[in-house]
Amino acid sequence: MSIVEKFISMEYGPAPEDPREALVWLDGHGRRLGHFINGAFQPPAQGQYFDTADPSTGETLASVAQGSAADIDAAVKAARSALPLWQSLTPHARARYLYALARQVQKHSRRLAVLETMDNGKPIRESRDLDIPLVARHFYYHAGWAQLLAQEFPGYIACGVVGQIIPWNFPLLMLAWKIAPALATGNTVVLKPAEFTPLTALAFADICQEVGLPAGVVNIVTGDGSTGKALVKHPDVDKIAFTGSTEVGRAIRKATAQSHKKISLELGGKSPFIIFEDADLDSAVEGLVDGIWLNQGQVCCAGSRLLMQESVAETLIGKVQDRMSTLRMGPPLDKAIDIGAIVARVQLERIQRLVDQGVAEGATCWQPPALALPSRGLYFPPTLLSNVHPTSIVAQQEIFGPVLAAMTFRTPREAVELANNTVYGLAASVWSESINVALQVAAQLKAGVVWINSTNLFDAASGFGGYRESGFGREGGREGLLEYLEPAWFKNAPRLQPKPLAMDQPLDEQSDVAAPSIDRSVKLFIGGKQARPDSGYSMEVRGADGRLLGEAPLGNRKDIRNAVEAARKAESWGKTTAHNRGQVLYYLAENLAQRAAEISSRLSAVVGKKQAEAEVQQGIERVFSYAAWADKFEGAVHDPPFRNVTLAMLEPVGAIGIVCPAEVPFLGFLSLVLPAIAVGNTVVAIPSEAYPLVTGDLYSVFETSDLPGGAVNIVTGRSAELMKVLAEHADLDAIWCFGDEAASSAVKALSIGNLKQVFTNEGRTLDWFSVEQGEGRWFLQHATQVKNIWVPYGE
Ligand code: NAI
Repeated sequence: MSIVEKFISMEYGPAPEDPREALVWLDGHGRRLGHFINGAFQPPAQGQYFDTADPSTGETLASVAQGSAADIDAAVKAARSALPLWQSLTPHARARYLYALARQVQKHSRRLAVLETMDNGKPIRESRDLDIPLVARHFYYHAGWAQLLAQEFPGYIACGVVGQIIPWNFPLLMLAWKIAPALATGNTVVLKPAEFTPLTALAFADICQEVGLPAGVVNIVTGDGSTGKALVKHPDVDKIAFTGSTEVGRAIRKATAQSHKKISLELGGKSPFIIFEDADLDSAVEGLVDGIWLNQGQVCCAGSRLLMQESVAETLIGKVQDRMSTLRMGPPLDKAIDIGAIVARVQLERIQRLVDQGVAEGATCWQPPALALPSRGLYFPPTLLSNVHPTSIVAQQEIFGPVLAAMTFRTPREAVELANNTVYGLAASVWSESINVALQVAAQLKAGVVWINSTNLFDAASGFGGYRESGFGREGGREGLLEYLEPAWFKNAPRLQPKPLAMDQPLDEQSDVAAPSIDRSVKLFIGGKQARPDSGYSMEVRGADGRLLGEAPLGNRKDIRNAVEAARKAESWGKTTAHNRGQVLYYLAENLAQRAAEISSRLSAVVGKKQAEAEVQQGIERVFSYAAWADKFEGAVHDPPFRNVTLAMLEPVGAIGIVCPAEVPFLGFLSLVLPAIAVGNTVVAIPSEAYPLVTGDLYSVFETSDLPGGAVNIVTGRSAELMKVLAEHADLDAIWCFGDEAASSAVKALSIGNLKQVFTNEGRTLDWFSVEQGEGRWFLQHATQVKNIWVPYGE
């Protein structure tokens, strides 16, 4: 008898966790729970309740309130009223509350774990050993940030009232990920738990009462998607933080486009689990069990695509099947259970439908033959799909169930291609005994988290969040706090009042601009070359006094397409060393300085002499600033409480479309394009429509400054039209738009297709001439995304 057979034949007796304390808590609330608003449980305004059930038995656990728009309004009002008091507390006082919440979570940890398992169906082993300890860790960690906030984030203030919407897969953990940083940074909160799993959030409400958290600081409104919608729409909410499906993430982005709500989205994933031939295969298989069968695979970062090096594929499949045969499935309150129940019937049916579709598309389905499903409850057996084609639905769509789709690759390069062949980019796991291979691959993966020879490790100090359609924003770490903060000057900045560009001196005092010269006409700048526009048309550019200054091409969709292609091709700019990028920028500054006088004199025809001189002077300084930043805006190394370190690398976002402000044609262009390229992005820029001739001055300098062709592309034309094309372009990773309020809204609404990152001035006025507002970390943060690479370290 082999070891595996012996293992399989071992009998386990049931080892059920005692549910009494959780049931007593439910009974204490009469098994009927209202919303938690303004520090007290309250019945729903419309008197409606819905049941929440234990998916492993089908038994109703309690009824909870169905939140209406009126309930959301009451909760938002409570959060708004609580804001002045909460913000008037000292950082230390807020820290004490967070610390008390952490202590109380620990004190009630068993009740919370049992309640979580009963409501969600996950094995008690997971809720007890993973979910709840991490919840406590999050509150402790953020209690620390509350204490240090003023010292570590000078000049930043809280967003205000935050609406938070969470899913059902890690109900209390997602609550902690949302509430802890929001409170630590001085926000107040309205949280809507998922309709399938509202109970631990309400148990947390009890804890808020126990620690005497001021009324209204945390409000919890239960309900379904309609309750979430009402929260997103509420005009007095300053920020929305969402975790859930990409589809709802898109809807939220659209619904908030007309507002100034800041949003962060943590969406789905289709994460690769890559095993190289030199990996310790047994460890990798153990990792895989965690990677895809944790929480029945209902994990946004589940390693749901197994990519195996061809030479070990057969051996691996055998090992995976052997291990799958030992997985124990059954009542989740049993401490010896590996796989519990699926959260709801609709999810179970969804999993089955996707598996059927995968098989119809040619996949081979394997499930442990001896595994018996429990006679009642919602269960789906651990499932291995092999012979999966990379384009199959099961290789592309998030299944959110215990289903692994296996594929093979030959070379590391092919592994990276396959891994990145998805619209998502949440996480990845890489297994190899060669540190060179593992780190080389990690650097190339488009994912917010990469685990090397490990999987599903989480810690409050290491930010979590995705690339591409997995969303934007991070939870945890320093970067997670920034999601709940804004520069104080920005939050209070006045609305931009579009005003015509005006000369600050009469023309005759400006000798060098007196003669209009039609030959100042410029071209587009694409892929490092001057290019004629596809349309064959130009637009006239006039000075502030109406004189014709020259002509600029009227760029169109085709020109943008070419420019984006050129930007993509130039991505090796992001791989040049930070030192080299800095050198190129210094050189650029030098070349600009040599032409300062002529640039300034031409610009003065549009903005006046005084502004022109200031723009050019400040612009050159700004280039120097970003040359300096290029090798100083760096990542970090975190020290999580495991046998790992996490390398928090700052990576460029990718190819960015930039719509420059109209009112400061030269300085505005440099203030946006320079931070983007300093950290390795490539750019398609639309210069100020008021003075597109600035393009000629810029490209003649770019051409002589060692900036690789395609790193910066410039398309002149009608800003609004070109902005639309950029926003809708599926191959751009981000769009920055600094214009009026209408432009900010439009760019958010138009860019939901590929959920590209959006950075705007929200239609507010920026003082581009000030160092505080016009340059620095705020811009660089938007130009980068954090990739946390977990590396084994130490004993
Ligand atoms: P969902 O995205 O519909 O639900 C998540 C949360 O959003 C819930 O609290 C829900 O009530 C709320 N919600 C739903 N519609 C809303 C709207 N229009 N506006 C505001 N809030 C809204 O996810 P669902 O239906 O529970 O699961 C469907 C699929 O989504 C899963 O099979 C899985 O693929 C994916 N999913 C991904 C998660 C992740 O962590 N990335 C978590 C949950 C689901």
